[in-house]
Amino acid sequence: MRDRIETIIKEVEGFSAKTKENAEEFRLKYLSRKGKISELFDEFKTVSPELKKDVGQLLNRLKISAQEKLDHFKGDGNENETSSGSDLTMPSPDWRGSRHPISIVRKNILDIFGRLGFTVEEGPEIEDDWHNFTALNFPEDHPARDMQDTFFLGDNIALRTHTSSVQVRILEKTAPPVRIMMPGRVYRNEAISARAHCFFHQVEGLYVDKNVSFADLKQTLLYFAQEMFGEETKIRLRPSYFPFTEPSAEMDISCTICAGKGCAVCKHSGWVEILGCGMVDPSVLKNCKVDPEVYSGFAFGMGIERITMLKYGVNDLRLFSENDAKFLSQFESEI
Ligand code: PHE
Repeated sequence: MRDRIETIIKEVEGFSAKTKENAEEFRLKYLSRKGKISELFDEFKTVSPELKKDVGQLLNRLKISAQEKLDHFKGDGNENETSSGSDLTMPSPDWRGSRHPISIVRKNILDIFGRLGFTVEEGPEIEDDWHNFTALNFPEDHPARDMQDTFFLGDNIALRTHTSSVQVRILEKTAPPVRIMMPGRVYRNEAISARAHCFFHQVEGLYVDKNVSFADLKQTLLYFAQEMFGEETKIRLRPSYFPFTEPSAEMDISCTICAGKGCAVCKHSGWVEILGCGMVDPSVLKNCKVDPEVYSGFAFGMGIERITMLKYGVNDLRLFSENDAKFLSQFESEI
């Protein structure tokens, strides 16, 4: 009998009532005249005298805790309860929450570069023209300065369109050698779709020192790609253009979905683009009071959403900001 009473104590403790109906159900099941507790009291009469004390105490404990629980469901003296009787401070029984996939991948990226000696710095999301454009060598009439791409907040002030602005902030205040990663949110005036959003996340990397070469850049990015997507991953650098790097390149990796054979994700090319990079343009170094005759450097920038989509096979950017618990609960991590 002790075992049965103990089981019912556990049942009572675990019962949660969300509505008045649930509370009534609880009362009928345990505390009514035909409920489980009355049944036990009836049965108690047949317990042998030497066990009566123990079993009696246990039974009383059960009765008191069931009564307390019922009072609690009815809202007696409990300010945490809503009128429906549910306690909003109770932990959810079925989902413990998990890290957002963007946070998981951001940490993965920073950890990988951390192993190469890169530290982490952040800069402001509201940025002036100098740090977002001018110091980065954007010509006066460059299309990225256009209203169509940039959310301006005032004459010389805007939501940053990329994390490259943080490169300038760091170089202005730190003498090389500089080896840092700069994660953050960026904003662009784009229509929201499966492939574009008005805000997303980037991670910028910057290495400035004596004798930094394009070969260093390539080897660093190869290490990153293989740590992130697996040892068998290949990279390819295609010549490109950014105002603040010269030479500039875009980096593709062999498609993570079809391993380079050709599929819808890589548009049957076997390659997918993941980042922009290049050697820091000497005029950017000059703008930040770093002598380009002495120092050289490389920089790269990648979208965290893009890396996450490839890593987890997500096909719609909007999923990252919709807070759909069914989507988010799929991402479990130790971090
Ligand atoms: N800022 C560029 C972008 O947003 C990426 C980039 C960063 C390219 C650093 C080269 C060097 O697309």
